[in-house]
Amino acid sequence: MNTRDLLSLKDVTETELKEILVLAADLKQRRGLSNTEKPLTGKTIAMIFGKSSTRTRVSFQVGIYELGGQSLFLDRNDLQLGRGETMSDTAEVLSRYAHGVIIRIHRHSGIEEYSQHSSIPVINALTDQFHPCQLLADLLTIQENAGRLSGVKVAYLGDGASNMANSWIIAAKLAGIDLRIGAPDGYHPAGTIIEDSKGPGKVTVTNDPVEAVSDANFVYTDVWVSMGFEDEADERRNQLRPYQVNSGLLTHAADDVKVMHCLPAKRGEEITDEVLDGPVSIIWDQAENRLHAQKAVLAKLVC
Ligand code: CP
Ligand code: NVA
Repeated sequence: MNTRDLLSLKDVTETELKEILVLAADLKQRRGLSNTEKPLTGKTIAMIFGKSSTRTRVSFQVGIYELGGQSLFLDRNDLQLGRGETMSDTAEVLSRYAHGVIIRIHRHSGIEEYSQHSSIPVINALTDQFHPCQLLADLLTIQENAGRLSGVKVAYLGDGASNMANSWIIAAKLAGIDLRIGAPDGYHPAGTIIEDSKGPGKVTVTNDPVEAVSDANFVYTDVWVSMGFEDEADERRNQLRPYQVNSGLLTHAADDVKVMHCLPAKRGEEITDEVLDGPVSIIWDQAENRLHAQKAVLAKLVC
């Protein structure tokens, strides 16, 4: 595998994580200043998307432009990929044109296959298993609010086996966060991902949403029906209803609790309007931080 890929946060060391967050904060502060460096000048970043996206697509395209490069948005189905050309052949060819590639597809094994045949950096923009770019923005947002990551208590409620929960487990271990996942049976993370994730953080899984949020500094949720799981929608809504983030549940969290959501939200399902639009929500700042965190990733990987 290309060592400059970002397929999951397993590709990032504790030191690299700190460097990315420092650079992201710096790029955020200096955004729009005329003397900022343009490390992607003359470079083209291909973006292969096989799933819908608002934040990831727009923040990457804006970020690439601000770093001096150009983005090439490629709907998976418009490429020959949609007619059966293989990931490996596509990777060989795009490596001859572009300087980096950002991919959003369903199967994580597809991006792994792509990366094995790519000689340019590959960045995961979401697969069924991981969403590392979202987590980098989330950690930047927590750092801004708490002034630290180590020892911070985060509760993750909902589908504990999702791409977001998996990414949270790796991030929490790496950053020294105390992560509690509140999810019902059938929606717990695979034991192997917790065991395989390295670092000083701690991960606990509970069926009890109150226990998960108890004294939490940050309460995090995501949709109950992730892209690609629409066939299971009714069952998921039934099973995950007790894990809704609402003002009643938040009474068990720390006094300074903040609420986070990667978005898009299904208002009234995993989170109420009252919480999403209320004073403890830092969700819009979190969405903004996608831009700054991804610019840092691009500056580190593609230059
Ligand atoms: N959070 C996130 O990745 O949003 P999009 O699906 O809109 O890109
Ligand atoms: N778990 C969600 C995240 C969306 C950003 C999904 O995969 O649809």
